[in-house]
Amino acid sequence: MELKHVLEAQQFDKKMLKELFTLADRMEEIVQNGESDLLRGKILASLFYVPSNRTRFSFESAMCRLGGRVLSSDRADSFSSELKAGSLEDTIITMGYYADVIVLRHHQGGSAKRASKVSRVPIINAGDGTAQHPTQALLDLYTIERELGGIDGVVIALVGDLANSRSIRSLGYFLAKYSGIKVHFVAPPPLGMREDMVQYLSKNGVIFYEHYGLEPPLADLARKVDVFYVTQIPMESFGDRLDDYETSKRQFVIDRRVLKSMKKNSIIMHPLPRQSEVAPEVDKDLRAVYFKQVHYGLCIRMALLSAILKKRT
Ligand code: CP
Repeated sequence: MELKHVLEAQQFDKKMLKELFTLADRMEEIVQNGESDLLRGKILASLFYVPSNRTRFSFESAMCRLGGRVLSSDRADSFSSELKAGSLEDTIITMGYYADVIVLRHHQGGSAKRASKVSRVPIINAGDGTAQHPTQALLDLYTIERELGGIDGVVIALVGDLANSRSIRSLGYFLAKYSGIKVHFVAPPPLGMREDMVQYLSKNGVIFYEHYGLEPPLADLARKVDVFYVTQIPMESFGDRLDDYETSKRQFVIDRRVLKSMKKNSIIMHPLPRQSEVAPEVDKDLRAVYFKQVHYGLCIRMALLSAILKKRT
């Protein structure tokens, strides 16, 4: 697999995804059996301008488990004169002298692409504004593959702030590569899926249904879907419509009532962190796989690092 940078979901085809998943399976053996020295001598730089726990630690753990080393900044612009002056481009060129791969999270959409244009070393997009979060979506896709045995023909409900979730946008681009996919968009107005993504899915043969309102039909959908993919509904997305936010917080919840209607072999996913949209009572149910996603994410990120640094087990 030729992988120079990881910038957006559209750069992958199904063959690459299959290869990546096979590599991730092999990485799982390393996680289970102990350390590896596959990336010994290599250095990863985490350059995070926007806070993260999961993504940053996941990449750093992946690098450590493969025997590499890590340089880390979790508030990159706070700790640098870049706050006052300087550009992302200059920082990326500079970091390229210190590290062999840069994992970048930035508040502006398109920043990973900008970085890749000047970088001496591979750039991995760890989230750029509300645009994309391709490695989160890769681990989501791998989770579906592992838990359901395949992705073609999956019926999935995407629930939450669809307008602003970069994970859901990337996942949408990935799902469009598979056949027979049906997607239910479930969101409070006006946080529905953006028109460009709706058009993209439609053009690529994905069948979709829109459920936009303050009382989502979660129990009804539970009888139909293979996957509930749930995300946060942040208060900021509602502006001054605080009543709608409070209603959404009560209504957009996967709880015992929804679980009762779900198919036996369906799954509940969440990129985490969660607020109240998946009730803690759901955690013990075998269909709740959001913590398994964390494990699959580690394997996928180990696979990405080994592919991008051209090392194989
Ligand atoms: N899922 C995810 O991107 O979480 P973080 O913001 O903690 O990285």
